Amino acid sequence: MVTSNRSRVVIVGTGSVGSAVASAIVQQGLCNELVIVGHHPNKAQGLAMDLADGLEFLGRFVTIRAGGWEDCRHADVAIIAAGPKPKPGETRMQELGAAIDIVDPILRRVRDSGFDGILIMVSNPVDVLSWFAWKRTGLPRAQVFGSGAALDTARLKTIIGETTRLDPRLVSGYVIGEHGDSQFVPWSTVSFIGKSFAQYLTDNHSRYPGVTLAGIEESTRRRGLDIKGLRGGTSYGIAATVAGLVRTILWNERSVVSVSTLIDGEYEYGEHDVFLSLPVALDGSGVGDFVDLHLSDEELAKFHASAEVVRRHCSLIADRL
Ligand SMILES: NC(=O)c1ccc[n+]([C@@H]2O[C@H](COP(=O)([O-])OP(=O)(O)OC[C@H]3O[C@@H](n4cnc5c(N)ncnc54)[C@H](O)[C@@H]3O)[C@@H](O)[C@H]2O)c1
Repeated sequence: MVTSNRSRVVIVGTGSVGSAVASAIVQQGLCNELVIVGHHPNKAQGLAMDLADGLEFLGRFVTIRAGGWEDCRHADVAIIAAGPKPKPGETRMQELGAAIDIVDPILRRVRDSGFDGILIMVSNPVDVLSWFAWKRTGLPRAQVFGSGAALDTARLKTIIGETTRLDPRLVSGYVIGEHGDSQFVPWSTVSFIGKSFAQYLTDNHSRYPGVTLAGIEESTRRRGLDIKGLRGGTSYGIAATVAGLVRTILWNERSVVSVSTLIDGEYEYGEHDVFLSLPVALDGSGVGDFVDLHLSDEELAKFHASAEVVRRHCSLIADRL
């Protein structure tokens, strides 16, 4: 459980993503103490000093320092953002071999520290590594999840906002399944200004010529690759997303977010022992109840296809456990 008067977040990884996540957390004043653990201690120290230099101008004081594995012991949240630098054109699953060599030793150290907080996996392929992290650490299901399709859900909302030239926060709905090529949008979950987005698009077709649900879904799926092609990698979108998840946990907001979580026989999903994104309640205790989306047969088939992709890649690293 989150302590009411003192909260500590540990970030492992000082690369593009780890730095951006750290900055978002500090800028929003989400915790009392932020500890940065890096592969290169100098980089962790330098990042902590750089972030602390802006404290005078921030809304809330946050203690920011470089630390070691022992700092995980009393952390409320640990975020794993270490991994191989994603290469343009490479899929997230193609990063698995290099990623597991980096992430497994980190997970062992986090576990050995006595960590009993909430572990957020960001490293890709995030669904596979979240499953591995859950197994490796032995933490309860509620305390391990991956950022998963929370970023894709935010991207979907951004794209709908850009398309309609309205505030993306007016969109309610979710991307589910794998954080990868087999992700999909169950459009029955997506509403906009008091009606389904599908209905909104039909009603306003002349204002948005050529815009289709399939086109928006494909743009959402491709957006990470597009950004990588343009600037070499992604960092600020995932940082805002992870900061939002941390806020939901530490501020006990009981929001419902699509994150990568253990699916084990819930509702009609019919999957076991696999991590995929579905909307779940999130608060200071971690991942709570699922929302039953009542997926159509076609959507369920897509969900099973996502599960198959993730399970196949989990089997490639299962012998390490
Ligand atoms: N889940 C998402 O939506 C999402 C989005 C973007 C990136 N990512 C993932 O985040 C991870 C980091 O991406 P990045 O762009 O910050 O890469 P980066 O190369 O900028 O940083 C990688 C970090 O990993 C650390 N690292 C590398 N080898 C290590 C080792 N052997 N032991 C310990 N730490 C080691 C580096 O020190 C560095 O801090 C990747 O796995 C990437 O795929 C996930």
